Amino acid sequence: MRIVILGSGAGGGVPQWNCGCPNCEAARAGRIPAMSQSGIAVSANGRDWALINASPDLRQQLAVTPALRPGGLRGSPIRSVLVTNGDIDHVAGLLTLREGQGFDLYATPAIHAVLSANPMLSALDPGIVVRREVALEQSVELAPGLAARLFAVPGKVPLYMEGERVETDLMGEQTVGVELEAAGRRVFYIPGCALVPDWLRERVAGADALLFDGTLWTDDEMIRAGLGIKSGRRMGHVPVSGPDGSLEALRDVTLGARIYVHLNNSNPLVDPASPERAQAAAAGWQVGHDGMEIAP
Ligand code: MLT
Ligand code: MN
Ligand code: ZN
Repeated sequence: MRIVILGSGAGGGVPQWNCGCPNCEAARAGRIPAMSQSGIAVSANGRDWALINASPDLRQQLAVTPALRPGGLRGSPIRSVLVTNGDIDHVAGLLTLREGQGFDLYATPAIHAVLSANPMLSALDPGIVVRREVALEQSVELAPGLAARLFAVPGKVPLYMEGERVETDLMGEQTVGVELEAAGRRVFYIPGCALVPDWLRERVAGADALLFDGTLWTDDEMIRAGLGIKSGRRMGHVPVSGPDGSLEALRDVTLGARIYVHLNNSNPLVDPASPERAQAAAAGWQVGHDGMEIAP
């Protein structure tokens, strides 16, 4: 299996257009790497690829990823796109894929319903872009030799669908994790997750790699930095640090590789020189970067 992290950042990316926080300023100045918005590409054979999540930065991500360039006059090695929720940072890039190219678009029925409610996405010609509903725990072949199984993780509906009362640890079709399998290798991709319950620890145990929600280091970091009024939990993201954080929850779980993805610009982990990065590394975690490739 080959995996390319197309975008390692959360919604907004690093730097975020309207943010002057120290990380965003450091990224603008080139002192730390910029991070585009969240998504990966996966292949079992190196020729046929699946995208998981389509970020608003997709056009540029494809341009700088040699494996995803057209092989001829027209065409693309991208066979399918799977989205793990309806968040803008995971679906707005679908609009970039509208130039008369066929592929399969996979999502749960609930996420498809959100996409279908948006008339702009009908720019994806239904004659060639086939919307395929995937039930939870159903296995589908995203590309030759590459199987995926979706499972519910604690999360919430997309921000633009929030009502007055928001449940942030819903278990259903709105936010899913992906279990990928190719040639006997098993990888989990979970870019959004509000909690790490015991069943999740057990499910990912023994995998060759885990790419996991690294949005925030501490639950209240955006509030304390004066960047916003929301906690991580309110946004549906478990923090990395702390007694209930993912670092601690996954510490004793056996994994081939563990990589944080979907990092918010407020997270000290985006700075390679930060003490937090060293602390995560000591627990075996890497921090994903744009263009990072792994072959689990
Ligand atoms: C998230 O991951 O919390 C969302 O992408 C937030 C957003 O839609 O901006
Ligand atoms: Mn997001
Ligand atoms: Zn910032």
